[in-house]
Amino acid sequence: MADYICLFNKDTLIIKPSKKSPLFLRTIVLLFAMVCGVYICSICIKQIGTVTKMNIQVIGSPSPDTNIGTQLEPQIPILHYPKPETFSRGECTQNPVRFFVILSMQRSGSGWFETLLNSHINVSSNGEIFSAMERRKNISTIIQTLEKVYSLDWFTSASKNECSAAVGFKWMLNQGLIEHHEEIAEYLNHRGISAIFLFRRNLLRRMVSVLANSYDRYAKLLNGTHKSHVHSPIEAAALSSYKPVINSTSLITDLREVGSVAVKALEYFNSTRHIVLYYEDLVTNRTKLKDVQEFLGIPRLKLSSRQVKIHKGPLSDMVKNWNDVNKTLSGTEYESFLRADY
Ligand SMILES: *[C@@H]1O[C@H](CO)[C@@H](O)[C@H](O)[C@H]1NC(C)=O
Ligand SMILES: *[C@@H]1O[C@H](CO)[C@@H](O)[C@H](O)[C@H]1NC(C)=O
Ligand SMILES: *[C@@H]1O[C@H](CO)[C@@H](O)[C@H](O)[C@H]1NC(C)=O
Ligand SMILES: *[C@@H]1O[C@H](CO)[C@@H](O)[C@H](O)[C@H]1NC(C)=O
Ligand SMILES: *[C@@H]1O[C@H](CO)[C@@H](O)[C@H](O)[C@H]1NC(C)=O
Ligand SMILES: *[C@@H]1O[C@H](CO)[C@@H](O)[C@H](O)[C@H]1NC(C)=O
Ligand SMILES: *[C@@H]1O[C@H](CO)[C@@H](O)[C@H](O)[C@H]1NC(C)=O
Repeated sequence: MADYICLFNKDTLIIKPSKKSPLFLRTIVLLFAMVCGVYICSICIKQIGTVTKMNIQVIGSPSPDTNIGTQLEPQIPILHYPKPETFSRGECTQNPVRFFVILSMQRSGSGWFETLLNSHINVSSNGEIFSAMERRKNISTIIQTLEKVYSLDWFTSASKNECSAAVGFKWMLNQGLIEHHEEIAEYLNHRGISAIFLFRRNLLRRMVSVLANSYDRYAKLLNGTHKSHVHSPIEAAALSSYKPVINSTSLITDLREVGSVAVKALEYFNSTRHIVLYYEDLVTNRTKLKDVQEFLGIPRLKLSSRQVKIHKGPLSDMVKNWNDVNKTLSGTEYESFLRADY
C-alpha cells in the first residue's frame, strides 16, 4: 500500500505547471494532491481497521472453528482480474477471481478436500505444486511459482482457465512454508490471498495413515502401483490390510511435535485472511463446505468427490501393536484419539 501512495504522489508532483498561469495551475495540482491524499488515507485507515478486527476475533476465540461464522462477516475476499500470459480469459475477462491457498499436512484429508473443491465449476485447485523440491529451493523460486499460479498460467488437470472464479493449490507445512514463513505471509497479505487451514484432530489416525502410505510406497499393494488415494472400496480394503507397528516409545513426543507444527503455522499466518477447518468436521458436517464456498465468495454448489476413505472402522483393528499404543496413551491428553471414529 505504501508503495502505491508514494508512486501516486510522485506522479502528481511531476506534472509541470504551464508557463501561462503558473500560480493557478499550481494551486489546482496542490488541491488535487490534497484531495487524493485524504482519500487514500481514509481507505488505508479502513483497511487497517478490518485487519485488526480480524486478528482480535481469531485470538479471542478459544477454538477457532467454532467462530467461523463471525469471522467471515466483516471480510470479503479480495477480487482480482488476472491477465494470463498464455491465454485470454475470453467471455470471463470481467469475472473477478479470488486467490486461495490450502495450508495442510500430509494425510489430513487435503487430497479429498481438493477433489471436492475442484468439483465446483469455477474452482481451480492445482494440487501439491511444492512437492517438487526445485520449486521450493529458495524464496525466489517459491515466489516465481506462486506468481505463475495466481496469474492463471499454471496448468493442471484441475485448471478451469478462463472461467475460474477462485484459484489456488494445496501447500503442506513441511514444504518450505514454515521455513520461509515471514516472506510467504507477507506475500499472501500483499497479493490478497486467503488461507484455508485444514487440520486433522485425530493425530493418531493420521499417523496410521502416514505409516501405511509410506509402507505402500515400497510395497505397492495395488497390483504394483503406489496409490495415496483410492476410488473403490476394494482398493481401500487392499491398502488397509497392512497394519503398521507404531513406536510406542516415541509416540507421545511424535504426536506433540505434529501438534506444535500446526500451532506454529496458525501463529505465523495469523495476519492473513483465513479460515480453519478440521477434516473430522468436513466428514460429519456438510455445512462446512458451504462455509468454505462463502469464505471464497463463490456461488454455492453441491460438491462431490469420488474418493473412498482407506482406513475405516475402529483404530484397534488397524494397528499391530494396539495394546502398547492403548497403554501408552491411556490417561494422557491424547486418550480420546484411541476411540474417535475419524
Ligand atoms: C534460487 O535458486 C535458483 C535456482 O537454483 C537460483 O538461480 C537463484 O540464484 C537462487 N536465488 C537465491 C536468492 O538464492
Ligand atoms: C463459472 O463458470 C461458468 C462456466 O464456465 C461461467 O459461465 C460463469 O460465469 C462462471 N462464474 C463465475 C462466478 O465466474
Ligand atoms: C489387479 O489387476 C487385476 C487384473 O488386471 C484386476 O482384476 C484386479 O482388480 C486388480 N486389483 C486391484 C487391487 O487393483
Ligand atoms: C522408537 O523410538 C525410540 C525413541 O525415539 C528409538 O530410540 C527407537 O529406535 C525407535 N524404535 C524403532 C523400532 O524405530
Ligand atoms: C501472530 O503471531 C505472532 C508470532 O507468534 C505473534 O507474535 C503475534 O502476537 C500474533 N499476532 C496476532 C495478531 O495474532
Ligand atoms: C455444522 O456446521 C455448521 C456451520 O459450520 C454449524 O453451525 C453446525 O452447528 C454444525 N453442525 C453440527 C451438527 O455440528
Ligand atoms: C484400552 O485398554 C483398556 C484397559 O486394558 C481397555 O479397557 C480398553 O477397552 C482399551 N481401549 C481400546 C480402545 O481398545
